Amino acid sequence: MTSVSSAVRGFERIGTHSHIKGLGIKEGKPLPAADGLVGQVEARKAAWIVVQIIKSGKMAGKAILFAGPPGTGKTALAIAIARELGSDTPFMGLSASEVYSAEMKKTEVLMQAMRKSIGVRIREFRRVYEGMISKMEVKFDRHPYNPWQQIPVGGKITLKTTNEERTFSVDSSIMSEVLSKGISEGDVVWIDEETGRVQKVGRAKGAESYDISSDRLVEIPKGSILKEKEFIHTVTLHDLDIAQSRSSSIISLFFGGPSEREISPEVRQRVDETVKEWIDEGRAELIPGVLFIDDVHMLDIECFSFLSRAMESELSPILILATNRGLTRIKGTDVVAPHGIPLDLLDRLLIITTKPYTREEIEEIIKIRAREEKVDMDEEALKKLTELGMERSLRYAVQLLTPAGVIAKERGSSKISSKDIDTVAKLFVSVKESSEYLRKMEEMFLK
Ligand SMILES: Nc1ncnc2c1ncn2[C@@H]1O[C@H](COP(=O)(O)OP(=O)(O)O)[C@@H](O)[C@H]1O
Ligand SMILES: [Mg+2]
Repeated sequence: MTSVSSAVRGFERIGTHSHIKGLGIKEGKPLPAADGLVGQVEARKAAWIVVQIIKSGKMAGKAILFAGPPGTGKTALAIAIARELGSDTPFMGLSASEVYSAEMKKTEVLMQAMRKSIGVRIREFRRVYEGMISKMEVKFDRHPYNPWQQIPVGGKITLKTTNEERTFSVDSSIMSEVLSKGISEGDVVWIDEETGRVQKVGRAKGAESYDISSDRLVEIPKGSILKEKEFIHTVTLHDLDIAQSRSSSIISLFFGGPSEREISPEVRQRVDETVKEWIDEGRAELIPGVLFIDDVHMLDIECFSFLSRAMESELSPILILATNRGLTRIKGTDVVAPHGIPLDLLDRLLIITTKPYTREEIEEIIKIRAREEKVDMDEEALKKLTELGMERSLRYAVQLLTPAGVIAKERGSSKISSKDIDTVAKLFVSVKESSEYLRKMEEMFLK
């Protein structure tokens, strides 16, 4: 069994939402701020009800639509729903524009996305290193292909049990998995001896860094660090498809078989059969995850009918759509429909709206993001950034944190000042400004 790690791919994608741990609901009521979420209480309550519907197995044939202006937390809420469904529930996010790829059919892109959002939890005995991380050093370097992107290239991890402490040097795939899972010093983890997959067990008792947190508290493991354990891990159906299609690639070498990137129906059928066998033998179980499709009005009629059919199949993930459009033409037709979605699909949607944030909420979200990105700023800088969040967009304000941190560091300070915010806000503009700027230029040159 191969386990294909998607850590590097997923790392950047989910980055701006890494602070989201759940819906922040207690006894059925949304707390003002919890699990990384702030405000948006009605949408959160609705999302929480959706989670209950999913858990009681009544979501079949239905899907969710988040409708709201940009930067109102549609993606954030979809991720929160996946988190509520369980820590190993797959979340696969894609923008509808990604289906228009040169190498793959649109429906193949959607099919792969669906299979990436269905997990298979497999049980087996394996040798693992288990302990609390007492020390961790991360080494960053440039991405091998993209020189402007920093990625973790490895580092050192010290593990500790009640009677042993050992330091391991680890490679980039292990480090990126550690980081993308938000693992830090004081966490109890295990690392698979053979594959290097990392799993967080919880936060070691006595190492709590916050008074209130969603982390599970666990004891520091006993005994030696290397041990045999019943090992439960989750791969996606797509991971299994890839592994399966690799093993049959010799045949396709002679007979032409499927192109590199498309996976044949036969391969998928074989994988489905194997998984069903495992389930019958009690060695595996299925975990339907969340497939999130953003800017759903960009899908065309062909994609919509594929999705409608796929929703009926027994191996179907939870489908969550998002849009910021009202009435618009359904792509590939002349029909105008709400959100550009065909009526038959609209009929099966539970629709949740997200509303613009208040000043206080924007300030709170910026604070959470700053904590998450480990940047510090003074009171005035926070006010200024909040102002930008109100005037331009929340996403813009959040995105300015990283460059502002760079500027602050350049002048030898670890704290972002309001001047730093002024500087980066001049250097980087919001989408609103950049499109307005070009519109004016076009007018000038047309005259
Ligand atoms: N209610 C919220 N609480 C905390 N963070 C949020 C909330 N809503 C949005 N964010 C964060 O603000 C940024 C923009 O939100 P996003 O979910 O991308 O909006 P949308 O998908 O509606 O365009 C993201 O970094 C997101 O994680
Ligand atoms: Mg979004």
